[in-house]
Amino acid sequence: MAQARESWKSRGGFIIAAAGSAVGLGNIWRFPYVAGENGGGAFIILYLAIVFTVGFSIFLAEQTIGRAAQRSPAAAFRRLKGGVWPILGYIGVLCAVVILPFYSVIGGWTLGFIWKTVAGTASDAGGFGAFISHGWLPILFHGLFMAATATVVIAGINQGIERWCRILLPGLVILMFVLIIRSVSLSGAEKGIAFFLSPDFSKVTMLTVQAALSQAFFSISVGMGVMITYGSYISRDRSLPGDAAWVVGLDSSFAIMAGLIILPAVFAFGQNPSAGPALTFVTLPQIFSQIPGGIFFGLLFFLMLSVAALTSAISILEVAVAHLGDEHNVSRHKGTIWTGFVLFLVGIPASLSFGPWADITLFGMTIFDLMDFFATKLLLPGGAIGMALFVGWVFWPDAAKSLYAEGEAPPRWAFVWRWMCAIIAPALILWVMIGGF
Ligand code: PFF
Repeated sequence: MAQARESWKSRGGFIIAAAGSAVGLGNIWRFPYVAGENGGGAFIILYLAIVFTVGFSIFLAEQTIGRAAQRSPAAAFRRLKGGVWPILGYIGVLCAVVILPFYSVIGGWTLGFIWKTVAGTASDAGGFGAFISHGWLPILFHGLFMAATATVVIAGINQGIERWCRILLPGLVILMFVLIIRSVSLSGAEKGIAFFLSPDFSKVTMLTVQAALSQAFFSISVGMGVMITYGSYISRDRSLPGDAAWVVGLDSSFAIMAGLIILPAVFAFGQNPSAGPALTFVTLPQIFSQIPGGIFFGLLFFLMLSVAALTSAISILEVAVAHLGDEHNVSRHKGTIWTGFVLFLVGIPASLSFGPWADITLFGMTIFDLMDFFATKLLLPGGAIGMALFVGWVFWPDAAKSLYAEGEAPPRWAFVWRWMCAIIAPALILWVMIGGF
């Protein structure tokens, strides 16, 4: 006998858990340098425009599907329509099981850097490369990160995900504020602020639009059914669009806050803002080693990064666990332990591909890069297109009726959302996917 489905205890419950999912490594290490490379303020304006139109539409589409069906992705499509549509749910689960292992490997690096900061070795020359290529050491941290993720998910929606996000997300805000104040008050910080915020429209090209769109989808966690799953725990007396706007708004605010931590510090120390992933794990530790109280700020920074990564990883694991529960009647306990363990194993080759297995490549990509490419360039946008089309053409007009509390008439702007889902968003994403090749 299946147990009654849990639901978020409060309106804030969904917002805080979904924001926890959205705010992650994508906001903190990726957004600042992508914005920096693509015209600073101009990129931010473009990014916000995309997030609040196309991004918001797909977010709302997923949330509506989940709430209406009260099921995880595959079961949700089966319940609402059946036919070939549940395939979209399976794509979401596949995406989750490909993303989580490599996300957890990077989550492990953030834990490793907490340890290295305390030990005073985070800023050693070549230390980052030596750490990630070490072999078993990053695997150990990847295991710890996966174990932390599973510990939250196993405790369920209210006692696990909702409770932990409620503690961790406000903690994240405090950590970020302390770091922003530290960073913008460094001498020379204004150059970084100017680089980040002043718009340079001459740098905006088709490629910029494509960069903004793929960053937007990854950042607000759409395309793999996280918001279908989280939406399935929203009770029928709630209205959805306000919650969606909150999450999308919070996610963008965190991205901008991350830029205000990283870029002023980088410029104050005359470093290269487009160093990519190395910015976080190489450049920043060097900066921390040169400022008074650097160990403290370094510790706060990597703690912040691990917290952000953890609340995102939780949501990805939940997709798989909810799927096993809804489709195969597997208990949360069993589902979490097995999925966590198997995905830990899947992450091992991804981790080794930075060291002993670096030479194993396919199409010129390492195992890690292949997983990243397959999930974020193919499955995620593909899933997003499918979900948008489903709402625009198949689930319409019931989708509109599902936006507000049960029995309430749909909002007047619902038709705009419909055309966004039916035509504009799928066309744009397809164009970006093709551009990605
Ligand atoms: N949104 C997360 C980030 O910005 O790091 C990553 C992510 C989580 C992507 C969940 C997709 C997802 F379904």
